[in-house]
Amino acid sequence: MTEPTPTSVAPKFHLAWFLNFVTDDWSGTWGAGGRDMSGDFYVEMAKDLERACFDYVIIEDKLMVSTAWGGTMESDLKHGVNPKHDPVPLAVLMAQATSRLGVVPTMSTSFYPPFLLARLCATIDHIARGRFGWNIVTSAEDRSAQNFGLDKLYEHDERYAMANEYLELVTALWDSWDADAVVRDRDSGTFADHTKVRTIDFEGQYYRSRGPLNTVRPPQGHPVLCQAGASPPGRAFAARFADTIIATANTPERMKEFRDDIRARLLEQGRKPDDTKVLFLIAPILGDTVAEAEAKKLRWMSDPLFIELVLTTMGSITEIDFSQFDLDQPLPPVTTNGERGFLEAFAKRAEGKTLRQAVTDDGMGGANDFVGTPETVADKMAAFMAEVGGDGFLITSPEKKLNRRYVTEVTDGLVPELQRRGLVRSAYTHEQFRDNLLDF
Ligand SMILES: Cc1cc2nc3c(=O)[nH]c(=O)nc-3n(C[C@H](O)[C@H](O)[C@H](O)COP(=O)(O)O)c2cc1C
Repeated sequence: MTEPTPTSVAPKFHLAWFLNFVTDDWSGTWGAGGRDMSGDFYVEMAKDLERACFDYVIIEDKLMVSTAWGGTMESDLKHGVNPKHDPVPLAVLMAQATSRLGVVPTMSTSFYPPFLLARLCATIDHIARGRFGWNIVTSAEDRSAQNFGLDKLYEHDERYAMANEYLELVTALWDSWDADAVVRDRDSGTFADHTKVRTIDFEGQYYRSRGPLNTVRPPQGHPVLCQAGASPPGRAFAARFADTIIATANTPERMKEFRDDIRARLLEQGRKPDDTKVLFLIAPILGDTVAEAEAKKLRWMSDPLFIELVLTTMGSITEIDFSQFDLDQPLPPVTTNGERGFLEAFAKRAEGKTLRQAVTDDGMGGANDFVGTPETVADKMAAFMAEVGGDGFLITSPEKKLNRRYVTEVTDGLVPELQRRGLVRSAYTHEQFRDNLLDF
């Protein structure tokens, strides 16, 4: 009997893209120069992603300029980790330019007042005609807290306790309008039926709100909720609320362990395991030949500027000063009150390597296994999904900067190869984001 090929056993899976609203590639050969922060580059990209039938695009965000590297802003600004523009207006522009793609900006439960956030999400879900999602983060940096009048961020687990209550509140606000509250009855001159709109009178440990929301219920009821918690309270929170979870893990075993754990936690919450789609971050490096892709990887990732950029970024989300470590020694034990999941995943990848090797092997994560032609990378993605069991990948640029050439390599090289094998969708089935996400 012949062994099944990976493709024949891999489930159909989902694709999303992970980006920042930073300047497009300003320093590379194929960049457009990074002079334009109007969002035009990303709006064009959103159309490309929709042509390739992606489920969604997620726009990362932070609320500070980091000084983690050497105690100054120099490296953060030098490498363009910041400026980072607000993802919410960009999501609106992307939604206007597309008709099926889900748009998912990041907003922090630590800093947005819940009423304003619930209202903003409801409004944009209307503008996007049911294609809005929220990447729920609790934030990870004291530097962010200091921009909002606090000395320090709340402790890691307390941030999740607050986020749980925050979500109870904002979901109650979205539910404060029944789906059929707007009646538009010309005879009685009634726009909305007041018996179908309620106060919520929410009294929590951290938040209070009277309600109701003063927006019509969002087309999706609740916007699609996306989360990336990796610690135990983070996973518990995600399993309670998320429609989609984004995660980092660099082997199929680690991906499977994470997804199985999330699916078990969903059952504990009284949800079905398939109610949440878990997407793993990967950063494919593509070429016309495997050798060409490998040469690209070597050239990009051994560049000292790239190594400094990755460690500056890693430092900004963990508030660890990576400039203090010898690049040619192993990473010493490190802990953080910031993004624990990212740090632990990086520390695992760095085991038995020098710090330099850890970065040149895998960048910010997800680059090591997906280097080759569209055919060989599609083989690998299929093999991973067959082993993990589903749900898909969150693609990001391995260089940490984005240009049209890279977007095209994915949308017009890799994705058509996946579509030919029936591994990803070739057409959207539904109009709304959540319906497409839960389609398979
Ligand atoms: C793919 C991915 C994207 C993320 N995007 C953001 C983001 O935009 N802003 C942010 O503050 N945190 C972001 N995070 C961090 C998570 O919200 C969370 O803090 C992190 O995964 C650590 O979770 P933990 O503290 O439960 O381990 C992201 C994490 C991952 C894996």
